[in-house]
Amino acid sequence: MFERLEPIVPDPILSLMAAYRADPDPHKVDLGIGVYRDERGETPVLAAVRRAEQALYVRETTKTYVGPAGNAAFNEALERLVLGDQHEARVTARVRTVQAPGGCGALRLGAELIRAASPGSVVHVSTPTWANHAPLLAGSGLKLEPYPYFDPATGGVRFAAMIGALERLPAGAVVLLHASCHNPTGADLSQGQWQELLELVKRRALLPFIDMAYQGLGDGLEADAYGIRLFAAELPEVLCAVSCSKNFGLYRERTGALHVIGASPAAAEATFSQLVKIARGIWSMPPDHGAAIVHGILADAELRRLWMDEVATMRERIGGLRLEVVTQLKAHCPQRDFGFIAAQRGMFSFFGITGAQVRELRERHHVYMTDDSRMNIAGLRRENLAYFVQATAQVLAG
Ligand SMILES: Cc1ncc(COP(=O)(O)O)c(C=O)c1O
Repeated sequence: MFERLEPIVPDPILSLMAAYRADPDPHKVDLGIGVYRDERGETPVLAAVRRAEQALYVRETTKTYVGPAGNAAFNEALERLVLGDQHEARVTARVRTVQAPGGCGALRLGAELIRAASPGSVVHVSTPTWANHAPLLAGSGLKLEPYPYFDPATGGVRFAAMIGALERLPAGAVVLLHASCHNPTGADLSQGQWQELLELVKRRALLPFIDMAYQGLGDGLEADAYGIRLFAAELPEVLCAVSCSKNFGLYRERTGALHVIGASPAAAEATFSQLVKIARGIWSMPPDHGAAIVHGILADAELRRLWMDEVATMRERIGGLRLEVVTQLKAHCPQRDFGFIAAQRGMFSFFGITGAQVRELRERHHVYMTDDSRMNIAGLRRENLAYFVQATAQVLAG
């Protein structure tokens, strides 16, 4: 059966990780892998998570199955976090939630739902988009088409081109949107642009599929949910894949959910039943540990406050690094304008240097970023920032 299978070339980001680990240079800087790092370069377990986990060990009395929709208390707590307590879709019972193994699981679940409902569907994705969107969505048999998004000249969004392209889509076309902290570019839609996009989506009867993997790491827990809340209130149907990997630091616990907003409570309920069936056929039931932790945090006023402070610390650290790196780059590389880095949000920015320059940074200066020059800003620290800027200045000077 498997004799003729060819080996798959490893994912470039995994090769980059391995190369970084193998590099003995003490100055090495990892801007490749997309996880948050603190000022010591670590990705620690959040204090709120640690405490919720300890409470869980004491409280938990069984490991019996939770069911294919997952942990109902987690699903509700996440709905409240994403949409807000009093959101119209919640109050009118138009939203249903199915827990999934991480944001990836939620994306796949959404893709399977779309394929079940409309097998020939095309999902329109931003140029560029997170590399894993393609296998997750196309793996369900959906076709992917790009729409214009990032403008390398400004480091912002090519909004007019984006609108122009989406305006031409047929009714029912699926548009994948990043709620905030666009991966890999850091270029987000403004609130005004979300409103303009809403009008288009309504007029053209498109289906928005929103990927929310960084709530709280851009402008704040509320501000980062602006687009999803607006769309969920104003549109008959929206899908939203949520990840708790970054904002709760629960990466390996595989914690996330798919929210489905339906035209009516009955439609939402029918869609929910389809999702449950799909989940049963893929992973049967999601893992509970991360979900129980998230629920434990969100349901306890003190832990919730602690967690919100920890999210704010992450967000402010990233924001501070963005400002600092722009200031230092301005001083050392005055010939180039890197101001866009401060205007962007979340962990990622496209640095905008060539593949050859990326390789030179890696080979001569031990600074690691992906070949397309995406860098994880959270990989910088006070300690290595000046080194990174000087290395960049040398590479740019040729
Ligand atoms: C844009 C985006 N969506 C979804 C995810 C899914 O994350 P996970 O499956 O680890 O929760 C990620 C993680 O990096 C991401 O960057």
